[in-house]
Formats: sequence, structure tokens, C-alpha cells
Amino acid sequence: MRLHVANHPLITHKLTVLRDKTTPSSVFRSLTEELVTLLAYEATREVRVEPVTIETPVTTTVGVMLSQPRPLVVPILRAGLGMLEGMVKLIPSAEVGFLGMVRDEETLKPSTYAERLPDDLSGRQCFVLDPMLATGGSLIAAIEFLFKRGATDITCICLLGSPEGVAAVEAATVDANVMLVLGALDERLNESGYIVPGLGDAGDRLYGTV
Ligand code: URA
Repeated sequence: MRLHVANHPLITHKLTVLRDKTTPSSVFRSLTEELVTLLAYEATREVRVEPVTIETPVTTTVGVMLSQPRPLVVPILRAGLGMLEGMVKLIPSAEVGFLGMVRDEETLKPSTYAERLPDDLSGRQCFVLDPMLATGGSLIAAIEFLFKRGATDITCICLLGSPEGVAAVEAATVDANVMLVLGALDERLNESGYIVPGLGDAGDRLYGTV
């Protein structure tokens, strides 16, 4: 696994506003979108392209365009949905699949409750969106799900990660082609599985408590 932690003052500024518990959901949602667009820029550095010949008003030249099959973006429901707009803003031609994972708040173990993905992911670059890499359980389950469908190239984008979560993903994906892009690497997990200092429950902050 390769790890990239964003180190940019604008990203840190926006994350600081997200972390602030007084930031309302409306601001939280639009900042999440902006942050994902910035992180997606880094995360797509190795997106596959192919040469194309075009005519400019002046001459013929060879440029590049995204290869087929198009990248697949997979937000993990519910909180990953808040990251989708920011991602597809950068790659409007991406296809979107959905994976619903829920973690049991006592055992902290994830399970899949919904799935809408192509049957065959071989040859697809997959971009998984999950705002909080806490224990790593849901993200690892999502990665394994995509591997089972034939994916071999997976990039995960998270707003915040914990050292414990990064280590768990690393251990689960040793020789696999997995890249992890984080807005920030936080200090630790607390006994309830929350990232510290973190931003609280990302799904609740985005959508309110249901
Ligand atoms: N999920 C969240 O939304 N927040 C955390 O801090 C950990 C997991």
C-alpha cells in the first residue's frame, strides 16, 4: 500500500473548520466537497490516459484523454456519499457504484448491507470514498469486496485517518496495488473507536442524526 497525506495549508485550513463542532451541516457539506476535489487531484495523479489526436485551431497535435473503461468511484454509504460531488466534479465521466457498510457500534465490525457495483471490475481503476479511516474495518471490507470482483487498482480517499487504521489497511493490502490518500493523519483512536482529535461522526455531521 502507498500512503499520501496531504500537506497543504488550504487543506489544513478547511479541515480545521470541519473539525470545529460549531460548524453547521450546510457548511460541513460544502467544505467536504471542496476538500475531496483537492484530495482527488492528488489521488488521480496515476489515472490512466491514452493518446488522442486532435485539431487545434492552429495545427494537429497529440494529447491525452482518460482511458476506457472509465474510473469507477465507490462512495461507502452513508458518509462517503458526502464526498461524491467533490469527486465527480473532477472526473465527470467517471462511473459511480455504491457500497453500503455499517459498523456495529459495540463490536466495531463492519458488514455490507447494500451493493450496486459492476460484476467485473478487472481493468477498472477504483476510487473508494470514505471520510473517516478509524479502525480500518469498513475500508478493508470494501477493498476486499472490490478485490473479489476482480479489481486490482484501488485508491481510497479519506478526509482523516488514524495511525491504527492506516496500519490495519497496510497489513491487509501488503502486496496489492492500493493507494491511500488522507487529508490528515490524526493522533489516535479513542476507546469508542472515534478518531482523536477527529471531527466526530462524519455521517451525523453531514446529514444529522437519524
Ligand atoms: N467514523 C466517524 O464518523 N468518526 C470517527 O471518528 C470514527 C469513525
